[in-house]
Amino acid sequence: MVPSQKHQRSIMLSLKIAGCLILVLGVAGLLMAAKPGVPQDKKDTETCGQCHEDVVKGFLAKPHAALGDTSCTACHSGSEQHLKEGGGATIFAFKSTDATAPKNKTCLKCHAGSAAQFMSGPHGKASLDCTSCHSIHGGSKAGLLKGGETKTCNACHPDVVAKFSFNERHRLQEGVLSCSSCHDVHSGAPREKLGGFKQQACLKCHVEKGGPFLYEHGASRVEGCTICHEVHGSPNRHMLTMQSVPDLCYSCHVFTLQWHTQFNEKTTNCVNCHSTIHGSNLSRIFIK
Ligand code: HEC
Ligand code: HEC
Ligand code: HEC
Ligand code: HEC
Ligand code: HEC
Ligand code: HEC
Ligand code: HEC
Ligand code: HEC
Ligand code: HEC
Ligand code: HEC
Repeated sequence: MVPSQKHQRSIMLSLKIAGCLILVLGVAGLLMAAKPGVPQDKKDTETCGQCHEDVVKGFLAKPHAALGDTSCTACHSGSEQHLKEGGGATIFAFKSTDATAPKNKTCLKCHAGSAAQFMSGPHGKASLDCTSCHSIHGGSKAGLLKGGETKTCNACHPDVVAKFSFNERHRLQEGVLSCSSCHDVHSGAPREKLGGFKQQACLKCHVEKGGPFLYEHGASRVEGCTICHEVHGSPNRHMLTMQSVPDLCYSCHVFTLQWHTQFNEKTTNCVNCHSTIHGSNLSRIFIK
């Protein structure tokens, strides 16, 4: 049963004046009955703000302020007991000791669109929850991340972040791109964008490498770009997986033409001649 707006307002008014515990209980009950996201007249921010002034102030400057009047209880269930007993572990607070499922469930109520597959993806399966990366109250203004994207990921993937300091690398630190330019961290099981993926994510930016070509290089067809490139960064020129281009080519092309045996790391770079190595419309052997 949803109370009339006037009724609720009058309760709040007397609450403010009297600070009466019984009425607090009543308000909490009303708020509990309120449907998340549906504007009510009396604001959580006022009820909760009596004791959590700083939290409320910070909250109003962040995206969830858009929730309007039920903005606190939309995520923090159990406020009834909290208001009755006054603090302590009496309200759902997304603690690290809380189970993963209820935390994710709370967020997915409203964010099914952007993170529906999360639970079946590698992060969900590893029992991460939304608050592993997001902080509602302490997060960055954009994205509510715990201290910027790279820093957030670095907390658990420092080995990957470290690769972005090799000489040959994508310019992550400079802000040219970010982890999420290639990875969708909310994505699900197929892992198309979460590692082990082929080349769609690369072609967003490297359009010309994707063809379609009359003569495709079979290498791309098999594994995608990462069979030859270490995309986070590498000490090798052009972020190749091997320092020597001939070694890279010979790792698949075991048998080449007799006269090719003169070509090796010291003599020649294969791509001097096979310069359209990503594919060509003119030459089936990728020469200019
Ligand atoms: C979108 C979900 C969400 C909303 C809305 C929300 N909170 Fe939180 N709250 C959290 C999460 C998650 C945490 C755990 C710490 C964090 O992520 O910042 C938390 C932690 C807290 C804490 C304990 C830790 C701290 O930062 O002091 C308090 C108190 C709190 N919230 C109060 C409020 C109040 C008051 C409101 C309304 C103004 C509110 N919350 C709205 C999700 C939410
Ligand atoms: C009468 C004062 C009072 C009111 C009103 C109040 N709280 Fe609290 N709240 C407290 C106290 C005291 C604590 C314990 C603080 C601490 O441990 O630092 C607390 C703790 C919390 C926590 C953290 C719980 C935990 O387990 O760590 C959350 C979340 C929270 N309050 C949310 C809310 C929300 C949401 C509202 C409004 C529905 C609200 N509070 C209203 C006094 C209040
Ligand atoms: C009651 C609905 C509701 C709940 C529950 C909820 N959100 Fe939101 N969330 C919103 C709304 C509304 C916005 C602001 C408008 C928008 O960006 O879509 C938002 C925005 C966000 C944003 C985007 C911030 C930006 O910069 O664009 C993130 C991240 C987010 N929420 C994470 C969470 C997490 C994590 C939880 C669980 C702790 C959560 N939300 C719970 C409704 C909700
Ligand atoms: C592994 C870290 C991580 C986890 C876990 C995570 N997120 Fe995110 N989230 C991000 C990053 C990074 C961005 C920014 C992506 C971007 O800029 O495209 C983001 C953006 C968002 C946004 C705003 C942009 C959008 O896609 O709408 C919402 C909403 C959101 N996350 C909700 C959630 C919810 C809900 C959960 C839990 C089910 C969750 N996230 C779990 C890292 C994470
Ligand atoms: C709280 C720890 C944590 C944070 C923060 C985190 N991850 Fe993860 N990530 C994991 C775990 C655990 C796995 C699954 C086990 C594994 O494959 O290492 C995983 C898996 C992945 C995978 C898939 C690996 C594979 O083999 O398919 C990618 C890609 C990834 N994370 C990217 C990110 C990005 C990008 C961010 C930052 C937005 C991020 N992660 C933040 C813990 C984290
Ligand atoms: C230019 C695109 C791109 C960017 C930017 C990028 N990744 Fe990756 N990432 C990939 C690709 C492609 C793979 C799959 C590599 C493979 O299959 O050999 C991958 C694999 C991974 C893996 C799993 C395998 C491993 O190497 O551990 C993790 C974890 C990961 N990335 C995290 C991150 C994090 C964290 C960032 C940001 C600091 C990031 N990635 C930035 C493209 C990218
Ligand atoms: C968001 C855009 C973007 C995405 C997505 C992207 N790249 Fe890049 N890439 C660049 C830019 C820009 C450069 C130029 C170097 C720089 O300034 O960072 C570059 C450079 C490179 C280079 C090195 C070029 C050289 O001359 O050394 C290789 C190799 C490369 N990318 C491969 C990939 C692969 C493989 C993927 C997919 C896993 C990918 N890129 C995804 C933007 C992107
Ligand atoms: C068969 C191995 C192989 C595959 C597969 C491959 N590359 Fe390359 N790539 C190379 C080699 C070798 C070079 C160095 C060319 C040179 O030295 O001129 C290179 C250079 C590059 C460069 C920098 C120079 C330039 O031509 O712009 C980019 C960017 C690049 N590759 C992106 C990609 C992308 C994106 C994919 C997937 C669509 C991909 N590569 C797949 C071998 C490969
Ligand atoms: C991951 C394995 C792999 C790597 C690494 C690789 N290739 Fe290939 N390459 C292939 C496959 C598969 C084909 C298609 C062969 C077929 O259809 O019989 C192919 C085809 C070719 C062809 C066309 C002629 C032919 O045999 O069909 C040339 C030329 C070629 N590669 C040169 C190179 C050079 C030069 C390098 C090093 C820069 C290289 N390849 C690296 C797998 C690879
Ligand atoms: C001086 C130029 C040149 C250099 C350097 C060169 N190639 Fe070639 N390559 C050719 C030409 C021309 C052909 C075609 C020969 C023919 O069809 O008779 C060819 C053919 C090939 C073929 C296809 C063979 C087939 O069965 O059709 C492969 C694979 C190949 N080269 C790999 C390499 C590798 C690996 C390197 C570096 C170690 C390399 N090439 C260096 C010019 C060169």
